[in-house]
Formats: sequence, structure tokens, C-alpha cells
Amino acid sequence: MVSLTPEMMELIRSTRYFPLATASADGDPNVVPVGSVFLIDPETIWIGNQFMDATIKNLKENPRASVYVWTQGVKGCLKIKADVTVMEEGEDYEKMREMVSAKRADLKCRSLLVLKITGVFECTSGKDAGKKLL
Ligand SMILES: Cc1cc2nc3c(=O)[nH]c(=O)nc-3n(C[C@H](O)[C@H](O)[C@H](O)COP(=O)(O)O)c2cc1C
Repeated sequence: MVSLTPEMMELIRSTRYFPLATASADGDPNVVPVGSVFLIDPETIWIGNQFMDATIKNLKENPRASVYVWTQGVKGCLKIKADVTVMEEGEDYEKMREMVSAKRADLKCRSLLVLKITGVFECTSGKDAGKKLL
């Protein structure tokens, strides 16, 4: 696991929507927008599954994902890779259900995606584009 820097954490906290990419076991790619995203600690991101279908199927057979982080007005762009656990019950899932409905009362969280960050890469264009940062 790797630990995000304070600047990386600030960029994530300032970002509203994220593209979440997964792949099936045989490599069929899938990318979806997600907004129920919570930075839990420097190594962990939680994402709420309310509507995902292909993403969950992919994660069950290939439990890895990539997210990129960019938002207008904040310096930096990162690509994050993570190992993912899908939780449909338990204390953390119950906590996430509350966090999602506190954000939007009409949303029902069906499962919690726990992302443990395994790598962070530079996404900004320029000489360091693609460089592994962590
Ligand atoms: C801006 C935006 C944010 C979204 N955020 C989430 C989210 O946090 N969780 C979720 O389950 N679906 C979210 N959705 C819906 C999914 O991205 C969408 O239903 C997607 O098609 C899931 O598809 P899948 O079957 O490919 O996994 C969001 C959609 C939009 C447009």
C-alpha cells in the first residue's frame, strides 16, 4: 500500500466526480462516473455503489481499479490504482450507507467499494506525464 501526500489528499477532497475504471477477467474495460467518493485515510478511498452493475461484476472477478483525479481550479492531476474489496454487509458498509444517504437522502447504497491505494501516477501533461509518484 502507498500513502497519499497532503497535496494529493487536498486534490481528491476538492474533486466532485471521478471516472472509475475496471476490467473483466478477460480484459473487457469499463469506465463510469462516481460521486459518492470519500477519502477515509491516506491509503483508503470508499466509493458507494448505488447503480453499478458491470463495475461490480468486474470487481468480483478482477478486484482492481483505476481512478483519475482532476478538477478545474485546483493544481494537479493524478491517476490512482487500487486493490478493491466489495462489502455488502458489516460495520463499514452500514457506516457508508449512512454517509451516502446523509449526502443525498434518496440514494440507497447497495455495497461499499473499499479501495486500498497501490500506486499514484502523474497525469498532468509535460515531461513527467505518466511518471510513478508513489
Ligand atoms: C455524475 C455522476 C455520478 C455518479 N456517481 C455514482 C456513484 O457514486 N455511485 C454509483 O453507484 N453510481 C453513480 N453514478 C451512476 C453510474 O456511474 C452509472 O449508473 C453507471 O452506468 C454504472 O454502470 P456499470 O453497470 O457500468 O457499473 C453516477 C453517474 C453520474 C452521471
